[in-house]
Amino acid sequence: MLQDRIRLSSLLDKVMSPAEAALLIKDGMTVGMSGFTRAGDAKAVPLALAERARTEPLGITLITGASLGSGIDSVLTEAHVLKRRLPFQSDSVLRAAINRGEVMFIDQHLSETVELLRSNQMGPVDVAVIEAAAITREGGIVPTTSVGNSATFAILAEKVIIEINLGQQIDFEGIHDIYIPTRRPFREPIPVVSPDSRIGLPFIPIDPAKIAAIVVTNQQDSSAATTPPDDETRAIAGHLIEFLGSEVRKGRLTERLSPLQAGIGSIANAVLHGLIESPFHDMTMYSEVLQDSTFDLFDSGKLAFASGSSITLSAACQARVFPEIGRYKNRLILRPQEISNHPEVIRRLGIIAINTALEFDIYGNVNSTHVGGTHMMNGIGGSGDFARNAYLGIFVTKSLAKGGTISRVVPMVPHVDHNEHDVDVVVTEVGLADLRGLAPRERARVIIDNCIHANFRDLAEDYYREALKHGGQTPHKLAEAFTWYTRLEETGSMLPK
Ligand code: COA
Repeated sequence: MLQDRIRLSSLLDKVMSPAEAALLIKDGMTVGMSGFTRAGDAKAVPLALAERARTEPLGITLITGASLGSGIDSVLTEAHVLKRRLPFQSDSVLRAAINRGEVMFIDQHLSETVELLRSNQMGPVDVAVIEAAAITREGGIVPTTSVGNSATFAILAEKVIIEINLGQQIDFEGIHDIYIPTRRPFREPIPVVSPDSRIGLPFIPIDPAKIAAIVVTNQQDSSAATTPPDDETRAIAGHLIEFLGSEVRKGRLTERLSPLQAGIGSIANAVLHGLIESPFHDMTMYSEVLQDSTFDLFDSGKLAFASGSSITLSAACQARVFPEIGRYKNRLILRPQEISNHPEVIRRLGIIAINTALEFDIYGNVNSTHVGGTHMMNGIGGSGDFARNAYLGIFVTKSLAKGGTISRVVPMVPHVDHNEHDVDVVVTEVGLADLRGLAPRERARVIIDNCIHANFRDLAEDYYREALKHGGQTPHKLAEAFTWYTRLEETGSMLPK
């Protein structure tokens, strides 16, 4: 019954087709859409926009929580609807358009976008398009599988379009915790003191008069593409779990560890799966994306509570978990991404943050975004929010890419997302380097000794030996710092012939 989902009866006459709703969006507007790592994204209105762009000029700035599913970024790119896009994406068609310079991509820390909008440093947001499980009697919006930036989009936008998705369980109601920080410079402390702190409302409070259109959909989120653990990801997980065990033995952590954050992808998934077999127990997560491994940890009895901004699952895990989401409700919170990723909270809770790097260098600087220093992969996402403020900022990566032609441990990264000051531990399948409290020359030693693949170790030693002749706090031989990249470009491999 639609009335169960749209409980404010005066809104029932706002129900219309996606094409009619999309007419509220005009050429040149800024649109805030729900969606965070393929979860809870608006699914019908963006497609109607792409359709309209076939017959009229229609270019927008699109702001979301993070990446979208359902191929929406591809469709909007191919229809030339996207002029500017922020703050994150992971779509191959959009990525190519960004790297051709056709779409202006603004790669932001995920906690910062709404701060810039709220203080009028960016924006304004003309229209918000938000997927919802329901609209309450007061006109509050109950999100679905993600909160992302939806609350602030809906609060700031002049007009709001709601996509009521009948395919999303109504049982999601009650999982969300919507808290909007007070204005700066007189902001109150954000009262999250543990991952299970509930500090806000279970819906997004807006003036219902702003709801200009409601579209009804019935479609599951895109599922996460999961790559099963392989020998290398298992080895990385093994090194990390061994390291955490030694931190417990030294009395720095308890067997409950500290709240965990894990980035998306196969390595993070392998690490979290490794924790199922570990001696750690009663663990908690204070993360941004909750993946299959979160629910596997719940079901194994190892995880006590998980807080995030979205739930992104494989198709099999969606089928297992979503119909029974009520069973997990008292152990789960979904928050706005500015709260899940808030520097103040991350610092307070002492998060163990595990994110994947494209590459890192011998001094511990990490590149998460730019292939070869120039071409955008996905974006920094939440990795900077967490790494900078974490109790332990950990970066993981396989030591090689592209069949062994590329080393992911290099003399100098050609783009820095996380600098040497924010990186505590780096791990490859070869081993782990604990960089805490080390000077650059000491870091170079442990990284070359423990992390670089054997095929590149002599090359790295040669580079470092030459660099040392130049002296300095952080020795480099600048004329040769990027020769691994130029060789890759010229010969197809970073290795000399
Ligand atoms: N140079 C060139 N290509 C590289 C590379 C390098 N140094 N390192 C990896 N690649 C390629 C891989 O070969 C692979 O390409 P393929 O699919 O064509 O084989 C691709 O990049 C992805 O690498 P992979 O190792 O499979 O990693 P992933 O899927 O785990 O993603 C990141 C790694 C870094 C791209 C991803 O974690 C990311 O976008 N991170 C930034 C955002 C973030 O950390 N968010 C955290 C909170 S969710």
